[in-house]
Amino acid sequence: MDILLLGGSKFLGRAYAAEALARGHRVTTYNRGVSRTDLPGVEAVHGDRGSLDDLRRLVDGRQWDAVVDTSGQQPHDVAQTARLLSGRTGHYGFVSSVHAFADWPARPVGPESELLACAGDLPPDQPFATALKAGCERALLENHDGPSVILNCGLLIGPHEPIGRLPWWLDRVARGGRVLAPGAADRPISLIDARDFAAFGLDLAERRATGRFVTTAPPGSATTGELLDACRAATGSDAEFAWTADATLLGAEVAPWTELPLWAPAAEGWLGTWQADSTAAVAAGLRIRPLADTVRDTWAWLESGGRAEVAYRQLETPLGLDPAKEQSLLGS
Ligand SMILES: NC(=O)c1ccc[n+]([C@@H]2O[C@H](COP(=O)([O-])OP(=O)(O)OC[C@H]3O[C@@H](n4cnc5c(N)ncnc54)[C@H](OP(=O)(O)O)[C@@H]3O)[C@@H](O)[C@H]2O)c1
Repeated sequence: MDILLLGGSKFLGRAYAAEALARGHRVTTYNRGVSRTDLPGVEAVHGDRGSLDDLRRLVDGRQWDAVVDTSGQQPHDVAQTARLLSGRTGHYGFVSSVHAFADWPARPVGPESELLACAGDLPPDQPFATALKAGCERALLENHDGPSVILNCGLLIGPHEPIGRLPWWLDRVARGGRVLAPGAADRPISLIDARDFAAFGLDLAERRATGRFVTTAPPGSATTGELLDACRAATGSDAEFAWTADATLLGAEVAPWTELPLWAPAAEGWLGTWQADSTAAVAAGLRIRPLADTVRDTWAWLESGGRAEVAYRQLETPLGLDPAKEQSLLGS
């Protein structure tokens, strides 16, 4: 197939590009060429998603069998590409997020869950809000003429992760000693390797599947203890995990999700975090590799220069627990 990746150079889009090339597809990527270098073997077209002139330069005289949109964050931009690509593509796959659902992370969500309120026809350059992904979904459905699929993505991990959630844990566990571990070892967690997501997304594109798939590991397929054990095994460290109750951490004003990445306390507002229902995706062929494989590959990537790609921050919020605060909590 001829595949257009809107994005395609950083993390999930990069995984799509690698998988598509491995399957023998021809890949065009479209990005500004500022964040990363495109993979060898793709046709890289550089331009801004927000610029109609740039997009016309991309699409004029062209057709693709499938488009995958990993970079859509603004309803205006998604509407614009969806309109321009109508009639020029056999299939449009849009990567949304579990964030688009009104109930996430407070309650379990699934493909039928209500979306956040956000119009699909907003003006460009909206300030960041999680609801924008819901607006992007509406923008696609309102403007694209042809088969399309929406993938509501859970928490992505794996090599090239730019935010640094799993990298932070790997680095912390690698330092060894007593490591503050949040909550309980048997607490379920549900993550997805970007490479597994991309393989599933391409399966859907190849068969022109339509509809919506919540795309993440099935709830309960792994635990926080397994995640940290995998970090210890991958890094060869002597870390000892000091499991610390949610109430203690919340009492010490440790911020869930960012100060301790991947920590969602068993507390109001967080109970649905790892409960997104991916049954339909699994039935449609989603395969999740063992968590330990993802952790091992991510460590190998970090150790071979990957840290330069990691921001260790989520938007403006730095990730990770200050070592002095960790020591004081471990002593208390
Ligand atoms: N990380 C998670 O846990 C998580 C969870 C739920 C959902 N998601 C969603 O999953 C997707 C992750 O995608 P990714 O970032 O890994 O994909 P990616 O396609 O690998 O990277 C983003 C791409 O967008 C390009 N880009 C950014 N701004 C652009 C612009 N104005 N015009 C043209 N291109 C632009 C970037 O290149 P340049 O900067 O060089 O232009 C880059 O190639 C996102 O849609 C995210 O919302 C992620």
